[in-house]
Amino acid sequence: MESNKFETNAIRNQLQRSQFQEHSVPMYLTSSFVFDDAEDMRASFTEEKVRNIYSRFTNPNTSEFIEKVVGMEGAEDGYAFATGMAAVFSTFAALLESGDHVVSARSVFGSTHTLFTKYLPKWQITTSYFDINKPDEIEALITENTKILYVESPTNPGVDIIDLEYLGKLAKKHKLLFVVDNCFATPYIQQPMKWGADLVIHSATKLMDGQGRVLGGAVVGKSDLVREIYLFARNTGPAMSPFNAWVLSKSLETLAVRLERHCENALKLAEYLEKHPKIAHVKYPFLKSHPQYDTAKRQMKLGGNILAIQVQGGLEAGRNFLNAIQMCSLSANLGDTRTIVTHPASTTHSKLAPEEQFSAGITPGLVRISVGLEHIDDIISDIDQALNK
Ligand SMILES: Cc1ncc(COP(=O)(O)O)c(C=O)c1O
Repeated sequence: MESNKFETNAIRNQLQRSQFQEHSVPMYLTSSFVFDDAEDMRASFTEEKVRNIYSRFTNPNTSEFIEKVVGMEGAEDGYAFATGMAAVFSTFAALLESGDHVVSARSVFGSTHTLFTKYLPKWQITTSYFDINKPDEIEALITENTKILYVESPTNPGVDIIDLEYLGKLAKKHKLLFVVDNCFATPYIQQPMKWGADLVIHSATKLMDGQGRVLGGAVVGKSDLVREIYLFARNTGPAMSPFNAWVLSKSLETLAVRLERHCENALKLAEYLEKHPKIAHVKYPFLKSHPQYDTAKRQMKLGGNILAIQVQGGLEAGRNFLNAIQMCSLSANLGDTRTIVTHPASTTHSKLAPEEQFSAGITPGLVRISVGLEHIDDIISDIDQALNK
């Protein structure tokens, strides 16, 4: 029975049963696959036959995982990576040539920024940054060498939002590849291909796993682009492990219900903190006070699970707040069942110079909260006691 429902496909799109008639898909922990004869082997290598050859290329578990993501994002094809950063780097490495230029929002994940500023320049690939809150300035940065327009929305860690429809049209006008890191939203909340994205990238380590267990990444999108990325990955080896794919495919079965609660908790916490005397500022996409609230409402089904807050008193107050936390975790991850509190300026984005941090919206007192699935009363009470210490 065909369904167009996200929840049903997340559960029912699975590998064909084996002769054992298992209900839950087994793990295919095998590095390679066997051939019937020399002709079968030859035809498989020339791709006259579509089949699994070697798990660096494809594996039943990674295929199941990526096909779910492809369906959720409304994409044509995809490839599963060992980590989100492997997905980001492989996309650039496969699609960019020496001399190409990227236009990107300045507010991107710290390691993506390091790729743009330290590694891509090794191959004469340059990047121009724009302020995520000034989309009008993008067009002036586009040159005849610009190949990719790159954004995250919501951004990490500032939860800024950019109008994806506007960017999709701009990319089309200038014949750019529009690439969106959709990690903070997940396809349950937002599908960038609807707005004209050519490729969508995920760190599956975050909300897709949702339980802080495994690393993973994905790129999905137009099949000709995915083909290039696949060939790069097949030859360079950043493939997702079948074990991680098995875990992640199971996690996707519960993505919708988890996201509903994550976002409900995050909105309640945001509303609570907005009125808190010890908080200077709260940023959350579905708070009316968010500068891009209207855009967020248009392109996102829910507000996500990340809040950016400024504690009254700046850096010192922010550090004291972190030190007083009791239940929530101080950890570098996000999108876990456990609520996580981080200080981006001294951790995930510490490689950025102070002025780069500032222009990416990372002030010294900024605290990022990844709201988990504990009872909201307990989350609020831990944060409240830490603010009042
Ligand atoms: C927006 C975003 N993109 C990419 C990554 C990298 O993902 P991974 O840690 O799986 O390599 C992260 C990690 O935090 C992220 O937040």
